[in-house]
Amino acid sequence: MTRPISVADIRKSFLDFFASKGHTVVASSPLVPGNDPTLMFTNSGMVQFKDVFLGTDKRNYVRAASVQACLRAGGKHNDLENVGYTARHHTFFEMLGNWSFGDYFKKESLNWAWELLTQVYKLPAEKLYATVYQEDDEAYAIWEDIFVKAGWTPERVKQEGRIIRIGDNKGGRYKSDNFWMMADTGPCGPCSEIFYDHGPEIPGGPPGSPDEDGDRFIEIWNNVFMQFDMKEDGSVTPLPAPCVDTGMGLERLAAILQHVHSNYEIDIFDVLIKAAARETGTTDLSNPSLKVIADHIRATSFLISDGVIPSNEGRGYVQRRIIRRAIRHGYKLGQKTPFFHKLVPDLVKMMGEAYPNMASQAQRITEVLKAEEERFYETLANGMEILDAALADGAKVLPGEVAFKLHDTYGFPLDLSGDVCRERGVAVDEAGFHAAMEAQKAKGRAAGKFKMDKALEYNGAGNTFVGYDRLEVPAKVVALYLDGTPVAELKVGQQGVVVLDTTPFYAESGGQVGDEGVITSGVATFAVGDTQKIKADVFGHHGAVAQGTLAVGDSVTASVNLDQRAATMRNHSVTHLMHKALREVLGSHVQQKGSLVDAEKTRFDFTHNAPVTDEQIREIERRVNAEIVANAPTQARVMDIESAKATGAMMLFGEKYGDTVRVLDIGTSRELCGGTHVKATGDIGFFTITAEGGVAAGVRRVEATTGLNALRYVQGMEDTLGGVAGTLKVAPGEVPARVGALLEQMRELEKEMNALKSRLASAQGDELVNQAVEVKGIKVLAATLAGADAKALRETMDKLKDKLKTAAIVLAAVDGGKVQLAAGVTADSVGKVKAGDLVNFVAQQVGGKGGGKPDMAMAGGTDASGLPKALASVEGWVAEKL
Ligand code: ALA
Repeated sequence: MTRPISVADIRKSFLDFFASKGHTVVASSPLVPGNDPTLMFTNSGMVQFKDVFLGTDKRNYVRAASVQACLRAGGKHNDLENVGYTARHHTFFEMLGNWSFGDYFKKESLNWAWELLTQVYKLPAEKLYATVYQEDDEAYAIWEDIFVKAGWTPERVKQEGRIIRIGDNKGGRYKSDNFWMMADTGPCGPCSEIFYDHGPEIPGGPPGSPDEDGDRFIEIWNNVFMQFDMKEDGSVTPLPAPCVDTGMGLERLAAILQHVHSNYEIDIFDVLIKAAARETGTTDLSNPSLKVIADHIRATSFLISDGVIPSNEGRGYVQRRIIRRAIRHGYKLGQKTPFFHKLVPDLVKMMGEAYPNMASQAQRITEVLKAEEERFYETLANGMEILDAALADGAKVLPGEVAFKLHDTYGFPLDLSGDVCRERGVAVDEAGFHAAMEAQKAKGRAAGKFKMDKALEYNGAGNTFVGYDRLEVPAKVVALYLDGTPVAELKVGQQGVVVLDTTPFYAESGGQVGDEGVITSGVATFAVGDTQKIKADVFGHHGAVAQGTLAVGDSVTASVNLDQRAATMRNHSVTHLMHKALREVLGSHVQQKGSLVDAEKTRFDFTHNAPVTDEQIREIERRVNAEIVANAPTQARVMDIESAKATGAMMLFGEKYGDTVRVLDIGTSRELCGGTHVKATGDIGFFTITAEGGVAAGVRRVEATTGLNALRYVQGMEDTLGGVAGTLKVAPGEVPARVGALLEQMRELEKEMNALKSRLASAQGDELVNQAVEVKGIKVLAATLAGADAKALRETMDKLKDKLKTAAIVLAAVDGGKVQLAAGVTADSVGKVKAGDLVNFVAQQVGGKGGGKPDMAMAGGTDASGLPKALASVEGWVAEKL
């Protein structure tokens, strides 16, 4: 099928249109939002501008447009469970958006939307409908004007219901299809949505009607008039300046422009669905499972390229759920081995040009997916059996404990079991599942660090951070929180959060942990255990009042714990040096994938396909320590992002950089970094790598430490070595030679012992000759050889055969509870008795089985207690065969 316009062209004409209206074209930001505890994934184009709406961040433009990669799986906006069942839902999708930051408002926004749709994309006006928020007369009037300008009379507009008012239809003030919020709190406002009518042959009604959920009238473009900041209690305050935030689903628009009725029929999905069919051996291209797989390969691949690897918590768990859901749908189509990762090249073919960062990581994405598939396939079949069994007798509800067992033992996320149940019209006892989960958690709960479980409400000015240069400053308490709620005082013993006007405390970010320390007012002391950001420039000091009462307005001294901070700085600075050395020693494919820096260590994850060898580790340590010895002063310069790029500083893909950034030179490394660092490399003291290992396919992790911690680590190694040397009674330097000599001696002793064993066995063999019993012309012998191994059994067997001439023999040896068996039959008797049968006859009486040639067979068994009886039964068995 030739398409009238490709997805690539749709993206381009959108951006060109808004550029011609004075908008700055901005790149898609990563799926993982930077420093935002309220949001799991980038769920719309506005996410990278959230702080601009709130007035805490500024850009050098007031109009912007972008094509943003978005994910709606987990969090406020979650479409995971609709995927595969409707024509228009995705987990991953692309959003075309344009923004005004305190510049234009409703009129321009709606008029431009209309102009682009009808004149550039040439959609017929007859196909379009608009909704407005019930109270928004202004938007209503603008739409009426637009239709009139397009040649309609106001009566016709009314008669045909072209402009539809939608009120609070979701149970509460501002809970409406026409009131948009990014998350439960934050920027929000009334919106106006544009709908496209796919025609009467598709079932469904216009927005606001009872059958609005059908696929006939599809929302394509949402224009949000951002006016408020939503607080946790549901109240709103006006934003510093009213803004516009629009979002149009690229896939939905493409379906219209490519004359198809489902997003899953557009060019990208056509290719991905065929690829899914190819890899699962499916011929029916309309099977909904293919849509699920095609959707999920996009979501999971983009997530991996933005650093989210499958795990058991947070974003990593959503990633795991999506991958496993895709695998289960493949399994349902009959694919019983890993297949999902084989779709990556098809994805790269369709989307690689628009998203080069994803394309360049194709191999890594494939490896991560494959590893997760292999892991899940190990338990999938067993889990499905359990699920089938639980649902076998027409059960209407899957018990919570079964769902939990599937989750806990077989790796079935709850929504995966739910997916299977839904297909079979069965409900899941979710309450029972959560109860089982809670019971298990309660057992294993351990006290953690202070973590924010919800965003704190703070509307004052940002604080000044002075902690690059100073670790103790006078400050004023500007806000206090108890259990997440603002309070005027915190009393002794209470845990809470303190906000200061000025602070030397570094708040956790960029992988560096938050500072610890104390805040004292003279009468009150607050012990700070952690510092976390409430907003980009508002730091929350988490801790507890150790003495007195701390009140808003108090003048205090804020002091960072010097030792902890100094150790953390050493570890952070050395991370930059190590990052550089890793790239030099292993290659420039090394990319940072995550880091954690605290006072004890630095932990650094990076892309690399093989273990780092001991030699490479030595070389990295040598290079980093050489930089330390050179004792070069650190230099930090703040500049705009373009100038920073020009300095050649290392930038981490996926990091959210503002317009001004900090370029940090430590030794010969140059990176963008907001962290706190040593004054000169010499302050690091000493560097040593303490561990190296794999964390996921294609991702390695090193741990390292510095300063006195590094000394302690090396001294610990010395103690171990000293202990070994003491036991061996040699000097530490002689340990390798001595251990080598001991191993050699052990090998010699083993050899000698084996020789003795076989001599012993053959001596026993001589005695056994006399124990053979004659049965119808064949000598039958069944006996145990003390201390023999398999080799001795065989050798003795050969000797006995020679001596007895015409014979059927069984020899056994016992080691622990285990039994070794050998059966031998001389060549002249194999026509009557087979050694394989004989050995099996005995073996099955001692819990084993075996086999071999007609003249010689071996077997093992696990039940030595049955051996005497088994050996006694040999004579009778042979007699029967003759
Ligand atoms: N942020 C708005 C939405 O996602 C445009 O619908």
